[in-house]
Amino acid sequence: MTTVEKNNYNSRVTPYVFSCWILAAFGGLMFGYDIGISGGVTGMDEFLMKFFPKVHERKLHAAENNYCKYDDEMLQLFTSSLYIAALVASFFASKACSLLGRRPTILMASTFFIAGAIFCGAADAKWMLIFGRILFGIGVGFGNEAVPLFLSEIAPINHRGAVNILFQLLVTIGILVANLINYGTSMMKEHGWRVSLGLAAVPGIILFVGSLVITETPPSLVERGKEMEGRAALQKIRGVDNVDAEFQQIVTGCEQAKQVKQPFKKLFKRSGFPALFISTIIQVFQQFTGINAIMFYAPVLFQTLGFKSDASLLSAVITGLVNVGATFVSIYAVDKVGRRKLLLQASVQMFISQVAIGAILVTHLKATGSLDKGLAAVVVVLVCTFVMSFAWSWGPMGWLIPSEIFPIETRTAGFAFAVSTNMICTFIIAQAFLSMLCHMRAYIFFFFSAWILVMGLFVVFLLPETKGVPIEMVEERVWKQHPVWKKFFKDEVKETTD
Ligand code: BGC
Repeated sequence: MTTVEKNNYNSRVTPYVFSCWILAAFGGLMFGYDIGISGGVTGMDEFLMKFFPKVHERKLHAAENNYCKYDDEMLQLFTSSLYIAALVASFFASKACSLLGRRPTILMASTFFIAGAIFCGAADAKWMLIFGRILFGIGVGFGNEAVPLFLSEIAPINHRGAVNILFQLLVTIGILVANLINYGTSMMKEHGWRVSLGLAAVPGIILFVGSLVITETPPSLVERGKEMEGRAALQKIRGVDNVDAEFQQIVTGCEQAKQVKQPFKKLFKRSGFPALFISTIIQVFQQFTGINAIMFYAPVLFQTLGFKSDASLLSAVITGLVNVGATFVSIYAVDKVGRRKLLLQASVQMFISQVAIGAILVTHLKATGSLDKGLAAVVVVLVCTFVMSFAWSWGPMGWLIPSEIFPIETRTAGFAFAVSTNMICTFIIAQAFLSMLCHMRAYIFFFFSAWILVMGLFVVFLLPETKGVPIEMVEERVWKQHPVWKKFFKDEVKETTD
Protein backbone atom coordinates (compact mmCIF):
# COMPACT_ATOMS: atom_id res chain seq x y z
CA MET A 1 0.00 0.00 0.00
CA THR A 2 2.80 2.38 0.84
CA THR A 3 4.26 1.88 -2.63
CA VAL A 4 1.00 2.73 -4.33
CA GLU A 5 0.70 5.77 -2.15
CA LYS A 6 4.25 6.73 -2.91
CA ASN A 7 3.78 6.45 -6.62
CA ASN A 8 0.70 8.64 -6.31
CA TYR A 9 2.51 11.54 -4.68
CA ASN A 10 1.90 14.77 -6.51
CA SER A 11 5.07 16.35 -7.70
CA ARG A 12 6.72 18.17 -10.55
CA VAL A 13 10.37 18.92 -11.03
CA THR A 14 9.93 22.67 -10.67
CA PRO A 15 12.60 25.16 -11.73
CA TYR A 16 12.86 26.06 -8.05
CA VAL A 17 13.66 22.55 -6.88
CA PHE A 18 16.00 22.10 -9.82
CA SER A 19 17.98 25.20 -8.78
CA CYS A 20 18.07 23.90 -5.21
CA TRP A 21 19.60 20.64 -6.44
CA ILE A 22 22.20 22.39 -8.50
CA LEU A 23 23.15 24.83 -5.77
CA ALA A 24 23.38 22.12 -3.13
CA ALA A 25 25.24 19.81 -5.46
CA PHE A 26 28.04 22.40 -5.41
CA GLY A 27 28.89 20.66 -2.15
CA GLY A 28 29.87 17.65 -4.28
CA LEU A 29 31.91 19.93 -6.51
CA MET A 30 33.74 21.27 -3.48
CA PHE A 31 34.62 17.74 -2.37
CA GLY A 32 35.74 16.76 -5.87
CA TYR A 33 37.83 19.93 -6.25
CA ASP A 34 39.74 18.99 -3.12
CA ILE A 35 40.31 15.43 -4.27
CA GLY A 36 41.65 16.58 -7.62
CA ILE A 37 43.67 19.65 -6.69
CA SER A 38 46.30 18.25 -4.33
CA GLY A 39 47.90 15.82 -6.77
CA GLY A 40 48.68 18.50 -9.34
CA VAL A 41 49.90 20.95 -6.74
CA THR A 42 52.26 18.42 -5.15
CA GLY A 43 53.83 17.90 -8.56
CA MET A 44 54.61 21.63 -9.03
CA ASP A 45 58.25 22.59 -8.54
CA GLU A 46 57.65 25.99 -6.98
CA PHE A 47 55.31 24.45 -4.40
CA LEU A 48 57.76 21.67 -3.56
CA MET A 49 60.71 24.08 -3.30
CA LYS A 50 58.82 26.31 -0.89
CA PHE A 51 57.28 23.71 1.42
CA PHE A 52 58.94 20.37 0.74
CA PRO A 53 62.50 21.15 -0.42
CA LYS A 54 63.75 17.62 0.34
CA VAL A 55 61.17 16.09 -1.98
CA HIS A 56 62.16 18.57 -4.63
CA GLU A 57 65.83 17.64 -4.25
CA ARG A 58 64.97 13.98 -4.59
CA LYS A 59 62.84 14.63 -7.63
CA LEU A 60 65.75 16.38 -9.39
CA HIS A 61 68.20 13.55 -8.84
CA ALA A 62 68.27 11.69 -12.11
CA ALA A 63 69.63 8.57 -10.44
CA GLU A 64 66.94 8.59 -7.78
CA ASN A 65 64.55 5.69 -7.53
CA ASN A 66 61.48 6.28 -9.71
CA TYR A 67 59.09 4.75 -7.27
CA CYS A 68 60.32 6.68 -4.24
CA LYS A 69 60.81 10.23 -5.36
CA TYR A 70 57.58 11.46 -3.80
CA ASP A 71 57.68 9.34 -0.66
CA ASP A 72 57.48 11.95 2.07
CA GLU A 73 55.28 11.81 5.12
CA MET A 74 54.69 15.54 5.32
CA LEU A 75 53.75 15.65 1.65
CA GLN A 76 51.24 12.87 2.21
CA LEU A 77 49.98 14.65 5.30
CA PHE A 78 49.22 17.65 3.09
CA THR A 79 46.79 15.47 1.15
CA SER A 80 45.51 13.27 3.94
CA SER A 81 44.99 15.77 6.80
CA LEU A 82 41.80 16.83 5.07
CA TYR A 83 40.21 13.41 5.49
CA ILE A 84 40.95 13.09 9.19
CA ALA A 85 39.46 16.53 9.72
CA ALA A 86 36.44 15.50 7.64
CA LEU A 87 36.05 12.32 9.64
CA VAL A 88 35.97 14.15 12.97
CA ALA A 89 33.79 16.92 11.57
CA SER A 90 31.19 14.51 10.22
CA PHE A 91 30.16 13.54 13.77
CA PHE A 92 29.52 17.20 14.63
CA ALA A 93 27.87 17.67 11.26
CA SER A 94 25.31 14.94 11.90
CA LYS A 95 24.38 16.68 15.16
CA ALA A 96 24.19 20.06 13.41
CA CYS A 97 22.05 18.48 10.70
CA SER A 98 19.43 17.28 13.10
CA LEU A 99 19.51 20.14 15.61
CA LEU A 100 19.88 23.12 13.29
CA GLY A 101 18.80 21.73 9.92
CA ARG A 102 20.46 20.85 6.61
CA ARG A 103 20.61 24.41 5.32
CA PRO A 104 22.67 25.94 8.16
CA THR A 105 24.96 22.90 8.03
CA ILE A 106 25.57 23.52 4.33
CA LEU A 107 26.18 27.20 5.12
CA MET A 108 28.79 26.21 7.72
CA ALA A 109 30.42 23.84 5.23
CA SER A 110 30.87 26.63 2.71
CA THR A 111 32.26 29.02 5.34
CA PHE A 112 34.93 26.55 6.41
CA PHE A 113 35.70 25.90 2.80
CA ILE A 114 36.21 29.57 1.95
CA ALA A 115 38.43 29.99 5.03
CA GLY A 116 40.46 26.94 3.94
CA ALA A 117 40.96 28.43 0.48
CA ILE A 118 42.19 31.70 1.98
CA PHE A 119 44.70 29.97 4.29
CA CYS A 120 46.03 27.63 1.61
CA GLY A 121 46.14 30.25 -1.13
CA ALA A 122 47.97 32.72 1.13
CA ALA A 123 50.18 30.13 2.86
CA ASP A 124 53.70 31.24 3.67
CA ALA A 125 54.55 28.45 6.06
CA LYS A 126 53.81 24.76 6.18
CA TRP A 127 51.50 25.13 9.19
CA MET A 128 49.27 27.54 7.24
CA LEU A 129 49.05 25.04 4.46
CA ILE A 130 48.11 22.13 6.71
CA PHE A 131 45.75 24.33 8.74
CA GLY A 132 44.05 25.39 5.51
CA ARG A 133 43.66 21.74 4.50
CA ILE A 134 42.10 20.99 7.90
CA LEU A 135 39.59 23.81 7.37
CA PHE A 136 38.81 22.35 3.92
CA GLY A 137 38.34 18.99 5.63
CA ILE A 138 35.86 20.38 8.13
CA GLY A 139 33.98 21.86 5.17
CA VAL A 140 33.96 18.48 3.43
CA GLY A 141 32.78 16.71 6.60
CA PHE A 142 29.85 19.11 6.99
CA GLY A 143 29.07 19.15 3.28
CA ASN A 144 29.19 15.39 2.73
CA GLU A 145 26.85 14.76 5.61
CA ALA A 146 24.31 17.45 4.75
CA VAL A 147 24.31 17.61 0.95
CA PRO A 148 23.34 14.00 0.03
CA LEU A 149 20.68 14.11 2.74
CA PHE A 150 19.42 17.44 1.44
CA LEU A 151 19.33 16.23 -2.15
CA SER A 152 17.41 13.06 -1.46
CA GLU A 153 14.99 14.76 0.91
CA ILE A 154 13.83 17.27 -1.65
CA ALA A 155 13.91 14.87 -4.64
CA PRO A 156 10.58 13.55 -5.89
CA ILE A 157 10.40 9.91 -4.88
CA ASN A 158 10.70 8.54 -8.41
CA HIS A 159 13.89 10.50 -9.11
CA ARG A 160 15.66 9.67 -5.86
CA GLY A 161 18.28 7.32 -7.34
CA ALA A 162 19.28 9.65 -10.15
CA VAL A 163 19.39 12.65 -7.82
CA ASN A 164 21.60 10.69 -5.44
CA ILE A 165 24.08 10.06 -8.26
CA LEU A 166 23.96 13.80 -9.04
CA PHE A 167 26.17 14.25 -5.97
CA GLN A 168 28.71 11.77 -7.37
CA LEU A 169 28.50 13.46 -10.78
CA LEU A 170 29.39 16.81 -9.25
CA VAL A 171 32.25 15.14 -7.35
CA THR A 172 33.69 13.92 -10.66
CA ILE A 173 33.16 17.35 -12.27
CA GLY A 174 34.98 18.91 -9.31
CA ILE A 175 37.93 16.56 -9.83
CA LEU A 176 38.02 17.39 -13.54
CA VAL A 177 37.82 21.15 -12.97
CA ALA A 178 40.69 20.85 -10.47
CA ASN A 179 42.77 18.93 -13.00
CA LEU A 180 42.10 21.54 -15.69
CA ILE A 181 42.99 24.38 -13.36
CA ASN A 182 46.20 22.64 -12.34
CA TYR A 183 47.04 22.17 -16.00
CA GLY A 184 46.56 25.93 -16.55
CA THR A 185 48.32 27.14 -13.41
CA SER A 186 51.32 24.84 -13.92
CA MET A 187 52.17 27.03 -16.90
CA MET A 188 52.24 30.17 -14.79
CA LYS A 189 55.72 31.41 -14.01
CA GLU A 190 54.93 32.05 -10.37
CA HIS A 191 52.27 31.30 -7.78
CA GLY A 192 50.41 28.72 -9.88
CA TRP A 193 49.84 26.59 -6.79
CA ARG A 194 48.39 29.56 -4.92
CA VAL A 195 45.84 30.10 -7.67
CA SER A 196 44.96 26.38 -7.70
CA LEU A 197 44.39 26.22 -3.95
CA GLY A 198 42.81 29.67 -3.65
CA LEU A 199 40.29 29.07 -6.45
CA ALA A 200 38.61 26.50 -4.20
CA ALA A 201 36.88 29.55 -2.74
CA VAL A 202 34.76 29.84 -5.92
CA PRO A 203 32.59 26.74 -5.38
CA GLY A 204 32.65 27.66 -1.68
CA ILE A 205 31.22 31.12 -2.39
CA ILE A 206 28.60 29.70 -4.78
CA LEU A 207 27.54 27.23 -2.11
CA PHE A 208 27.50 30.00 0.51
CA VAL A 209 25.20 32.19 -1.58
CA GLY A 210 23.23 29.07 -2.57
CA SER A 211 22.59 28.10 1.00
CA LEU A 212 20.99 31.48 1.63
CA VAL A 213 18.62 30.88 -1.29
CA ILE A 214 17.70 27.19 -0.99
CA THR A 215 14.87 25.96 1.14
CA GLU A 216 15.14 23.89 4.30
CA THR A 217 13.95 20.33 3.67
CA PRO A 218 10.45 19.36 4.87
CA PRO A 219 11.67 16.33 6.91
CA SER A 220 14.18 18.51 8.73
CA LEU A 221 11.50 21.10 9.56
CA VAL A 222 9.07 18.42 10.75
CA GLU A 223 11.80 16.73 12.76
CA ARG A 224 12.31 19.98 14.65
CA GLY A 225 8.59 20.46 15.34
CA LYS A 226 7.94 23.02 12.58
CA GLU A 227 5.12 21.18 10.88
CA MET A 228 3.40 24.18 9.27
CA GLU A 229 6.63 25.39 7.75
CA GLY A 230 7.40 21.85 6.64
CA ARG A 231 4.13 21.59 4.73
CA ALA A 232 4.62 25.02 3.12
CA ALA A 233 8.16 24.04 2.08
CA LEU A 234 6.88 20.81 0.55
CA GLN A 235 4.23 22.69 -1.44
CA LYS A 236 6.83 25.11 -2.71
CA ILE A 237 9.24 22.34 -3.68
CA ARG A 238 6.64 20.14 -5.36
CA GLY A 239 4.91 23.00 -7.14
CA VAL A 240 1.44 21.68 -6.19
CA ASP A 241 -1.01 22.46 -3.37
CA ASN A 242 -2.08 18.96 -2.52
CA VAL A 243 0.88 17.31 -0.84
CA ASP A 244 -1.17 15.53 1.84
CA ALA A 245 -0.06 11.95 1.12
CA GLU A 246 3.64 12.75 1.03
CA PHE A 247 3.45 15.07 4.01
CA GLN A 248 1.71 12.39 6.05
CA GLN A 249 4.45 9.93 5.13
CA ILE A 250 7.11 12.42 6.30
CA VAL A 251 5.32 12.97 9.61
CA THR A 252 4.94 9.22 10.17
CA GLY A 253 8.58 8.62 9.28
CA CYS A 254 9.75 11.29 11.72
CA GLU A 255 7.55 9.91 14.49
CA GLN A 256 8.90 6.44 13.91
CA ALA A 257 12.45 7.74 13.95
CA LYS A 258 11.83 9.67 17.18
CA GLN A 259 10.74 6.52 18.95
CA VAL A 260 14.16 5.04 18.47
CA LYS A 261 16.06 6.83 21.20
CA GLN A 262 19.36 5.16 20.49
CA PRO A 263 19.67 4.48 16.78
CA PHE A 264 23.30 3.38 17.16
CA LYS A 265 22.28 0.71 19.66
CA LYS A 266 19.59 -0.55 17.33
CA LEU A 267 22.13 -0.59 14.52
CA PHE A 268 24.30 -3.01 16.47
CA LYS A 269 21.52 -5.51 17.09
CA ARG A 270 21.58 -8.78 15.18
CA SER A 271 19.00 -7.69 12.62
CA GLY A 272 20.89 -4.44 12.04
CA PHE A 273 24.07 -6.26 11.11
CA PRO A 274 23.49 -7.05 7.41
CA ALA A 275 22.87 -3.41 6.42
CA LEU A 276 25.65 -2.14 8.67
CA PHE A 277 28.12 -4.69 7.34
CA ILE A 278 27.27 -4.11 3.68
CA SER A 279 27.36 -0.32 3.85
CA THR A 280 30.65 -0.32 5.74
CA ILE A 281 32.43 -2.92 3.65
CA ILE A 282 31.25 -1.32 0.42
CA GLN A 283 33.07 1.86 1.47
CA VAL A 284 36.22 -0.06 2.37
CA PHE A 285 36.07 -1.79 -1.02
CA GLN A 286 35.38 1.47 -2.83
CA GLN A 287 38.61 2.92 -1.51
CA PHE A 288 40.67 -0.26 -1.87
CA THR A 289 39.94 -0.40 -5.59
CA GLY A 290 42.85 2.03 -5.53
CA ILE A 291 40.81 4.79 -7.18
CA ASN A 292 42.24 7.54 -5.05
CA ALA A 293 45.77 6.46 -5.69
CA ILE A 294 44.89 7.70 -9.16
CA MET A 295 42.59 10.61 -8.29
CA PHE A 296 45.04 12.13 -5.79
CA TYR A 297 48.29 11.19 -7.34
CA ALA A 298 47.63 10.77 -11.08
CA PRO A 299 50.01 13.57 -12.09
CA VAL A 300 52.67 12.24 -9.73
CA LEU A 301 52.07 8.69 -10.94
CA PHE A 302 52.39 9.73 -14.56
CA GLN A 303 55.64 11.53 -13.74
CA THR A 304 56.82 8.30 -12.14
CA LEU A 305 56.23 6.66 -15.51
CA GLY A 306 58.55 9.19 -17.06
CA PHE A 307 56.07 11.77 -18.37
CA LYS A 308 57.10 15.40 -18.25
CA SER A 309 55.22 17.62 -15.79
CA ASP A 310 52.70 19.10 -18.26
CA ALA A 311 52.09 15.77 -20.03
CA SER A 312 51.32 14.27 -16.64
CA LEU A 313 48.81 16.97 -15.82
CA LEU A 314 47.25 16.54 -19.26
CA SER A 315 46.89 12.80 -18.67
CA ALA A 316 45.20 13.58 -15.36
CA VAL A 317 42.74 15.78 -17.28
CA ILE A 318 42.01 12.85 -19.62
CA THR A 319 41.29 10.47 -16.74
CA GLY A 320 39.13 13.19 -15.17
CA LEU A 321 37.07 13.47 -18.38
CA VAL A 322 36.61 9.71 -18.53
CA ASN A 323 35.47 9.77 -14.89
CA VAL A 324 32.75 12.36 -15.59
CA GLY A 325 31.57 10.69 -18.83
CA ALA A 326 31.25 7.23 -17.30
CA THR A 327 29.21 8.56 -14.38
CA PHE A 328 26.42 9.34 -16.89
CA VAL A 329 26.41 5.64 -17.81
CA SER A 330 25.64 4.90 -14.19
CA ILE A 331 22.82 7.44 -14.00
CA TYR A 332 21.28 5.84 -17.08
CA ALA A 333 21.86 2.18 -16.17
CA VAL A 334 21.52 1.93 -12.40
CA ASP A 335 17.75 1.52 -12.34
CA LYS A 336 17.66 -0.52 -15.55
CA VAL A 337 20.37 -3.19 -15.25
CA GLY A 338 20.64 -2.97 -11.45
CA ARG A 339 23.44 -2.47 -8.95
CA ARG A 340 24.86 -5.99 -8.93
CA LYS A 341 25.46 -6.32 -12.66
CA LEU A 342 27.20 -2.95 -12.83
CA LEU A 343 29.42 -3.83 -9.88
CA LEU A 344 30.28 -7.25 -11.26
CA GLN A 345 31.06 -6.08 -14.77
CA ALA A 346 33.20 -3.31 -13.34
CA SER A 347 35.08 -5.65 -11.02
CA VAL A 348 36.18 -7.72 -14.01
CA GLN A 349 37.21 -4.65 -16.01
CA MET A 350 39.06 -3.11 -13.07
CA PHE A 351 40.83 -6.37 -12.28
CA ILE A 352 42.10 -6.77 -15.86
CA SER A 353 43.22 -3.12 -16.03
CA GLN A 354 45.15 -3.23 -12.74
CA VAL A 355 46.84 -6.55 -13.50
CA ALA A 356 47.87 -5.27 -16.94
CA ILE A 357 49.26 -2.01 -15.50
CA GLY A 358 51.17 -4.00 -12.86
CA ALA A 359 52.56 -6.41 -15.46
CA ILE A 360 53.78 -3.63 -17.75
CA LEU A 361 55.44 -1.72 -14.93
CA VAL A 362 57.02 -4.75 -13.29
CA THR A 363 58.60 -5.79 -16.56
CA HIS A 364 59.43 -2.41 -18.03
CA LEU A 365 59.74 0.32 -15.40
CA LYS A 366 62.91 -0.11 -13.47
CA ALA A 367 64.00 1.99 -10.50
CA THR A 368 65.64 4.44 -12.88
CA GLY A 369 64.90 5.43 -16.46
CA SER A 370 61.38 5.69 -17.87
CA LEU A 371 58.84 3.77 -19.92
CA ASP A 372 59.06 4.11 -23.67
CA LYS A 373 56.41 6.34 -25.21
CA GLY A 374 54.22 3.59 -26.66
CA LEU A 375 54.00 1.66 -23.42
CA ALA A 376 53.39 4.80 -21.39
CA ALA A 377 50.41 5.52 -23.68
CA VAL A 378 49.11 1.98 -23.10
CA VAL A 379 49.32 2.58 -19.35
CA VAL A 380 47.30 5.79 -19.69
CA VAL A 381 44.64 3.88 -21.67
CA LEU A 382 44.55 1.19 -18.99
CA VAL A 383 44.20 3.81 -16.26
CA CYS A 384 41.25 5.17 -18.26
CA THR A 385 39.53 1.77 -18.56
CA PHE A 386 40.01 1.35 -14.81
CA VAL A 387 38.61 4.79 -13.94
CA MET A 388 35.70 4.37 -16.35
CA SER A 389 34.51 1.14 -14.78
CA PHE A 390 34.88 2.59 -11.28
CA ALA A 391 32.81 5.59 -12.29
CA TRP A 392 29.77 3.56 -13.31
CA SER A 393 29.95 1.17 -10.39
CA TRP A 394 31.82 1.34 -7.08
CA GLY A 395 31.95 5.16 -7.17
CA PRO A 396 28.23 5.95 -7.18
CA MET A 397 27.16 2.63 -5.61
CA GLY A 398 29.36 3.35 -2.60
CA TRP A 399 27.00 6.22 -1.78
CA LEU A 400 23.76 4.90 -3.23
CA ILE A 401 23.58 1.46 -1.60
CA PRO A 402 24.15 2.65 1.99
CA SER A 403 21.42 5.22 1.46
CA GLU A 404 18.81 2.63 0.51
CA ILE A 405 19.33 -0.42 2.69
CA PHE A 406 18.68 0.91 6.20
CA PRO A 407 15.20 1.11 7.72
CA ILE A 408 14.08 4.66 8.51
CA GLU A 409 14.93 4.44 12.23
CA THR A 410 18.60 3.76 11.70
CA ARG A 411 19.11 5.46 8.33
CA THR A 412 21.02 8.60 9.37
CA ALA A 413 23.07 6.76 11.99
CA GLY A 414 23.88 4.01 9.49
CA PHE A 415 24.73 6.50 6.77
CA ALA A 416 27.00 8.42 9.14
CA PHE A 417 28.83 5.16 9.70
CA ALA A 418 29.28 4.73 5.97
CA VAL A 419 30.55 8.30 5.53
CA SER A 420 33.11 7.97 8.31
CA THR A 421 34.33 4.60 7.01
CA ASN A 422 34.84 6.24 3.63
CA MET A 423 36.86 9.06 5.20
CA ILE A 424 39.07 6.70 7.22
CA CYS A 425 39.84 4.57 4.17
CA THR A 426 40.42 7.64 2.00
CA PHE A 427 42.82 8.89 4.66
CA ILE A 428 44.68 5.56 4.71
CA ILE A 429 45.12 5.55 0.94
CA ALA A 430 46.10 9.23 0.83
CA GLN A 431 48.63 8.79 3.63
CA ALA A 432 50.06 5.46 2.61
CA PHE A 433 50.00 5.30 -1.17
CA LEU A 434 53.27 7.05 -1.95
CA SER A 435 55.14 5.02 0.68
CA MET A 436 53.52 1.84 -0.57
CA LEU A 437 54.52 2.74 -4.10
CA CYS A 438 58.09 3.19 -2.88
CA HIS A 439 58.21 -0.13 -1.03
CA MET A 440 56.02 -2.33 -3.17
CA ARG A 441 56.88 -0.68 -6.48
CA ALA A 442 54.72 -1.84 -9.36
CA TYR A 443 53.48 -4.74 -7.25
CA ILE A 444 51.13 -2.28 -5.61
CA PHE A 445 48.84 -2.74 -8.60
CA PHE A 446 48.64 -6.46 -7.83
CA PHE A 447 47.77 -5.55 -4.25
CA PHE A 448 44.77 -3.56 -5.48
CA SER A 449 43.79 -6.30 -7.96
CA ALA A 450 43.66 -8.81 -5.11
CA TRP A 451 41.17 -6.54 -3.35
CA ILE A 452 39.13 -6.27 -6.53
CA LEU A 453 38.95 -10.05 -6.76
CA VAL A 454 37.59 -10.25 -3.21
CA MET A 455 35.10 -7.50 -4.04
CA GLY A 456 33.80 -9.43 -7.03
CA LEU A 457 33.24 -12.51 -4.85
CA PHE A 458 31.50 -10.33 -2.28
CA VAL A 459 29.03 -9.13 -4.91
CA VAL A 460 28.38 -12.68 -6.15
CA PHE A 461 27.70 -14.18 -2.73
CA LEU A 462 26.74 -11.44 -0.32
CA LEU A 463 25.32 -8.40 -2.05
CA PRO A 464 21.57 -8.51 -2.67
CA GLU A 465 19.97 -6.52 -5.51
CA THR A 466 18.03 -3.46 -4.37
CA LYS A 467 16.96 -2.16 -7.79
CA GLY A 468 13.28 -1.19 -7.80
CA VAL A 469 12.67 -2.23 -4.19
CA PRO A 470 10.90 0.48 -2.17
CA ILE A 471 13.11 1.32 0.79
CA GLU A 472 10.51 0.38 3.39
CA MET A 473 10.23 -3.11 1.87
CA VAL A 474 13.95 -3.86 1.82
CA GLU A 475 13.73 -6.00 4.94
CA GLU A 476 10.95 -8.27 3.62
CA ARG A 477 11.94 -8.44 0.00
CA VAL A 478 15.73 -8.31 0.26
CA TRP A 479 17.19 -9.39 3.60
CA LYS A 480 14.63 -12.03 4.50
CA GLN A 481 14.93 -13.66 1.06
CA HIS A 482 18.72 -13.79 0.94
CA PRO A 483 20.31 -17.20 1.67
CA VAL A 484 22.92 -15.73 4.02
CA TRP A 485 21.27 -12.66 5.50
CA LYS A 486 17.87 -14.20 6.29
CA LYS A 487 19.49 -16.00 9.24
CA PHE A 488 19.94 -12.65 10.98
CA PHE A 489 16.20 -12.12 11.13
CA LYS A 490 15.25 -15.48 12.65
CA ASP A 491 15.29 -14.37 16.29
CA GLU A 492 13.72 -11.07 15.45
CA VAL A 493 10.64 -11.41 17.66
CA LYS A 494 12.72 -12.44 20.61
CA GLU A 495 15.09 -9.58 19.96
CA THR A 496 12.43 -6.84 19.92
CA THR A 497 10.91 -8.04 23.15
CA ASP A 498 14.31 -8.06 24.85
C1 BGC B 1 34.80 8.45 -3.92
C2 BGC B 1 36.01 9.31 -3.92
C3 BGC B 1 36.65 9.23 -5.30
C4 BGC B 1 35.65 9.64 -6.35
C5 BGC B 1 36.21 9.49 -7.74
C6 BGC B 1 33.86 8.92 -4.97
O1 BGC B 1 32.72 8.12 -4.97
O2 BGC B 1 34.19 8.48 -2.64
O3 BGC B 1 36.89 8.87 -2.93
O4 BGC B 1 37.74 10.08 -5.38
O5 BGC B 1 34.48 8.86 -6.24
O6 BGC B 1 35.34 9.94 -8.70
